[in-house]
Amino acid sequence: MTRIGILLSGRGSNFQAIAKNVASGSIPAEIAVVIGNRLEAEGLAAARERGLAALALPSKGLDREAYDRQLIAALAAHQVEWVILAGYMRILSAEFIRAFPQRILNIHPSLLPSFPGLDAQHQAFDYGVKISGCTVHFVDEHLDHGPIVTQAAVNVDPDDTAETLSAKILAEEHRIYSEALRRLFTEAWRIDGRRVLFTPSA
Ligand code: GAR
Repeated sequence: MTRIGILLSGRGSNFQAIAKNVASGSIPAEIAVVIGNRLEAEGLAAARERGLAALALPSKGLDREAYDRQLIAALAAHQVEWVILAGYMRILSAEFIRAFPQRILNIHPSLLPSFPGLDAQHQAFDYGVKISGCTVHFVDEHLDHGPIVTQAAVNVDPDDTAETLSAKILAEEHRIYSEALRRLFTEAWRIDGRRVLFTPSA
C-alpha cells in the first residue's frame, strides 16, 4: 500500500476528505503521518481524532532549507513515499523537491496558470472571471507551477460573493484531489513535458 504523508497549515478540510476516502478504501493508500507547520493547525487535531500519527513541526522563524531538512527526516522516519500538500502554505526548497521526485502533489483553488499564490479565489472573483475552479498538480521548484493532473471548473454566478465562490471551489477540491490520488495509485501514467498522461493498460 502506498504510504502518503500529508502536509498542512490550517483547517485541513482537504486532508479530511482524503482521509475519509482512504478509510473507505477508495484511495488505496495508508496515511503514514500528518505534519502541520503551525502548532494551532486544526487539521492536526482532526488527524489525532482519527488516530493518525500527527506531528506539529513549527516553521516560524526557521530558515527554509533547515526547516525542510527536518521535514524530510520526519517523512523518512514514517517511510513516506508520496507527499500530499493540503493547504500547506509554505514554499518548498529545491532539496525537498529533489527528495521526492514526481511524488509531491498540491491542490490550488484556481484554474492554473491563472491566479497562483495566496487567496486565489478572491483574486479570481476580483478579476471578474466567469469561470474559476481548482487544480491538482505535481509540485516543482516554482510556485503553483508543476504538471497538471486534473482540474475542475466552477461557474461564477451573478449572485456569488468571494465567499460563496470559495465554498463551491472547495467542494470540487474535495472531490478531485481524492480522484487524482486514486488514479495515480491505481493506473499507469507518465509525465511528458508538462503533460500528465494516463496510459490505458493493455
Ligand atoms: C484550499 O482551498 C487549498 O486549495 C488552498 O488552501 C485551502 C486549504 O483548505 N491551497 C492553496 O492556496 C495553496 N496555494 P483546507 O486546509 O481546508 O484543505
